[in-house]
Amino acid sequence: MKRLSTTINIQSEEFKASSERYRGLVKEYRQIYREIMKGGTETAVKKHLSRNKLLVRQRINKLLDVDTPFLELSPLAANDQYQNAFPSAGIITGIGLIHGKETVIIGNDATVKGGTYVKETIKKHLRAQEIAMENNLPVVYLVDSGGIYLPEQANVFPDKYDFGRIFFNQAKLSAMGIPQVSIVMGSCTAGGAYIPAMSDQTVIVKNQGTIFLGGPPLVKAATGEEVTSEELGGGFVHTTKSGVADYLALNDEHALQQCRDIFETIPAARKQHLDFFPVREPEYNIEELYGILPLNAKSTVDPREIIMRIADGSEFDEFKAGYATTLVTGFARIMGFPLGIIANNGILFSESALKGTHFIELCNRRNIPILFLQNITGFMVGKEFENAGIAKDGAKMVQAVANANVPKFTIIFGGSYGAGNYAMSGRAFGSRLLFMYPASSISVMGGEQAANVLDNVGNVNSRDNVPDLKAGHDNRIKQEILEKYQKEGSAYYSTSRLWDDGIIDPADTRTIIAMGLSMSLNRKFDEPKTGIYRM
Ligand code: COA
Repeated sequence: MKRLSTTINIQSEEFKASSERYRGLVKEYRQIYREIMKGGTETAVKKHLSRNKLLVRQRINKLLDVDTPFLELSPLAANDQYQNAFPSAGIITGIGLIHGKETVIIGNDATVKGGTYVKETIKKHLRAQEIAMENNLPVVYLVDSGGIYLPEQANVFPDKYDFGRIFFNQAKLSAMGIPQVSIVMGSCTAGGAYIPAMSDQTVIVKNQGTIFLGGPPLVKAATGEEVTSEELGGGFVHTTKSGVADYLALNDEHALQQCRDIFETIPAARKQHLDFFPVREPEYNIEELYGILPLNAKSTVDPREIIMRIADGSEFDEFKAGYATTLVTGFARIMGFPLGIIANNGILFSESALKGTHFIELCNRRNIPILFLQNITGFMVGKEFENAGIAKDGAKMVQAVANANVPKFTIIFGGSYGAGNYAMSGRAFGSRLLFMYPASSISVMGGEQAANVLDNVGNVNSRDNVPDLKAGHDNRIKQEILEKYQKEGSAYYSTSRLWDDGIIDPADTRTIIAMGLSMSLNRKFDEPKTGIYRM
């Protein structure tokens, strides 16, 4: 394979200045992450610890194989929402190893409003279950939750992807033969009671875990019966009388060990075969990405400069290098895994879409997973291009991306706008994992374009909460739109709402993509099949 060579002077003042700025952004991200890792309020953490309970991250640490990594998903969910009362949306999700088996972990953080669920908590829980389904991974639920956060009930209870979907997914996972184990380490109330009840095997901690459809206050109100939590649904009751749980643990540590013991009898998945090569480091330092990545949505960066810093040996077998050059396609390896890469190098034209479609077909036939590197303002617009049928060519790529039978992974390294987001496997297109870099942005179009479009189309009903630009071409209003788009387009806004699986430090890209690739091999890839391409 051809080794890529850089054209960037890393000694230049410009490079050093960009690098410093990007490092600052990564530092800022890490500070927020560190704060969030503390969980709920100090009082809540103290109360939790005083009950001899481990904190959720400690639980996960003890559950996983010693010295193995945990790929945490969406740690900044719900950040800057709900007056920041829901760090990580009160739930920790991710992928880690138990007895060498890649496993999805879903753990409530009881220090965050009693481990209750707001919209983002549910989205995180459902996303983790979706990852389990797509990749055939067992699931462990560390249950310690008061169920729905009652003030938010209208946003979390009744709809298709609300709280009930958790149990629907459990049934589906079960029917797919995917093992699910619950450890009840605290409260497990109302609908939440179905989490352990629908698991294959359930461990419950003595004098600590409780499972019931209605707690003591509700029972009293409904029937007048007076009963303690333990009598109603404690560990002893469920492991000796009701049969709702299977193993009685003495404390958190014991329960986690019991769960690990259960995993010894879970058979390893039959893996998808890929041709592995020995792992080689890239020829260029991955940290040079800090000086290369775009700091704003307007910059284009030659994606080969990124590829040579993440690919094994900096090698890249480029496909159609001289054709449709705004889309870069080719084969590489990351940590020994073969990988097709599709990366933006400018706006998408008809021929870029055709090239992308052709390349996806190659990857499908050869069972090679695809990594999309997004920095896209969208497809070309204008009479010439519309008349030449850019919509039908874009549709071919969208069709190919949606129907690709190999696992897809997406990293947004710059901007992600318009239909370019779709063609480059945005969230709606089922990438197994999708991450954003700290300075990246995502919205239907850029703020300036949106302000100009609104200026041209005129008012927009006041009900829509968008100011009428026609009424005076007010620069202040235009500024407001720009600011709104800037805020809503930021990676932080996105990750808080789970439009992605998290913001990552670019220097971690190789490790994270390799973990994703490894996880995806637990399920055999489907046979290639395509839809109808409009010719
Ligand atoms: N909705 C909204 N807020 C809730 C809640 C719920 N279902 N359950 C707990 N909270 C809040 C409490 O108000 C408290 O908020 P604060 O920190 O702002 O004061 C915080 O979560 C912690 O609750 P607290 O009762 O102090 O903690 P605890 O550890 O002693 O008990 C529970 C936790 C979950 C066992 C207990 O709060 C409880 O039983 N909640 C009701 C559960 C329920 O009936 N759920 C049905 C919903 S489907």
